[in-house]
Amino acid sequence: MNIAIATGASSGIGREFARYLAEHKDKHGIEEIWLVARRLSVIEELAGSLPIKCKTIACDLTSTDDLHKLRCLLEEEKPAVRYLVNAAGMGKFKSAMNMTEVETAASIDLNVKAPALLTLFASPYMQAGSVIINMGSRSAFQPVPYMNIYAATKAFMLSHSRALGEELKVKGIRVICVCPYWVKSEFIDIAQDSGSEVKNIGRMWSADAVVRQAFADLAKGKDVSVLGFTTKVEAGLSKVLPHKLVMRVWERMQI
Ligand SMILES: NC(=O)c1ccc[n+]([C@@H]2O[C@H](COP(=O)([O-])OP(=O)(O)OC[C@H]3O[C@@H](n4cnc5c(N)ncnc54)[C@H](OP(=O)(O)O)[C@@H]3O)[C@@H](O)[C@H]2O)c1
Repeated sequence: MNIAIATGASSGIGREFARYLAEHKDKHGIEEIWLVARRLSVIEELAGSLPIKCKTIACDLTSTDDLHKLRCLLEEEKPAVRYLVNAAGMGKFKSAMNMTEVETAASIDLNVKAPALLTLFASPYMQAGSVIINMGSRSAFQPVPYMNIYAATKAFMLSHSRALGEELKVKGIRVICVCPYWVKSEFIDIAQDSGSEVKNIGRMWSADAVVRQAFADLAKGKDVSVLGFTTKVEAGLSKVLPHKLVMRVWERMQI
């Protein structure tokens, strides 16, 4: 059975990836999508609306036990994993010293540990033509005060994805890191719900536009997908300007 796995499938970008893959299932050779999130009723509702067979998997990806349940499921079913979409993620818009222990650990476990382990667990079931889609962020290109832990997890994802793409090239497996700026979803509300030191949220893109850009960039052979001209320029500048300067500009925007 050829499958796609989408984490974060109950909301925002992960849900749009699942929708896109379901709508283009024949083109991408997918027979089933595994929808992963904690809110079972939400992914069940999504499954009912998609034009493809779905398996709904209620899973807290910060839990090592739950990650191992996914590993066991892969070992039992031995599917051909055509797409792995690591979209589950969270952040808190606060200084690292104002975050709780739980917020800090959950951000790192969900954004870094879970995608790295899921990729490890799914890779034996991938073959030439398989694709790993990892969610990075515009914040992956520079250190970001007041989104410190979040941005650092996304820098990990960008670095990990690009190196993994090189390592897996020989097997014909593609890896792309999707790095949008602000996107309309539940993410920003959750990031700010326990207080926010980030005040200036700019233009917001739709999750659908992020997903379409990712597939357009995959088709062009890119390993990083950045949506929007301004975001591309800013990401480019973040690579060449001193990071102290880039951080100061960001801080000024937030005061
Ligand atoms: N929105 C933005 O501005 C933006 C910009 C750049 C990058 N990103 C990245 O894009 C990805 C998707 O974000 P989004 O905007 O779609 O956010 P979202 O609407 O908040 O969706 C987050 C998803 O992650 C799942 N999730 C959260 N905690 C989880 C846990 N402990 N275990 C399993 N699943 C969990 C949520 O499902 P449940 O709550 O049902 O578990 C939900 O499906 C994230 O990696 C985010 O960092 C977002």
